[in-house]
Amino acid sequence: MFVFIWLIVCLSTNKGALGGETYCQTTDYCVTLTNNTAEAGLCAVIPCSFTSPFKPEHIIWYKCDEIRCSNSHLVFHSDKNNENVKVGFRGRVSLLEPDVTQKNCSIMINDLKESDFGSYQLRVEGYELSDKFTYTVKKTTLSLSDLNKKAQSDDSSTD
Ligand SMILES: *[C@@H]1O[C@H](CO)[C@@H](O)[C@H](O)[C@H]1NC(C)=O
Ligand SMILES: *[C@@H]1O[C@H](CO)[C@@H](O)[C@H](O)[C@H]1NC(C)=O
Repeated sequence: MFVFIWLIVCLSTNKGALGGETYCQTTDYCVTLTNNTAEAGLCAVIPCSFTSPFKPEHIIWYKCDEIRCSNSHLVFHSDKNNENVKVGFRGRVSLLEPDVTQKNCSIMINDLKESDFGSYQLRVEGYELSDKFTYTVKKTTLSLSDLNKKAQSDDSSTD
């Protein structure tokens, strides 16, 4: 119920939350993504779906720095016991569709912080050791909404 309410709030404040383009790395591995904007303090939804030739067991998200997106930037793992998820992200990121076999990688980030804005990359792992794939073909960028920027500049102009 709690997640459901947040979802309504997130979807109604997220610009361009629906739709998205499909990017394929090979014919078997495609990801459908959009860029999104949100306001700090609120929550963001990153809509996402993917295709894979194997049955997914875990959905994983990396946040990217200027150089790369890697395991040291793990911000979400559908295995809640995974200890490598960065402390600042633990408990704030959740899947919209908890059934990972649906291949729906949409996530919601609550209590947005300035440091959450930036690019994210998807990784999916299956049941076999060889069933793993990082969708490097496309990143999704979460930006601070113009609304917020405008509010900030309005604030400074009244100083
Ligand atoms: C997001 O924006 C960046 C920078 O403009 C662009 O390179 C990238 O293709 C966009 N990604 C998507 C998923 O639209
Ligand atoms: C992913 O799941 C969410 C929540 O159930 C839903 O709103 C969204 O439409 C789904 N996306 C796709 C591409 O199925």
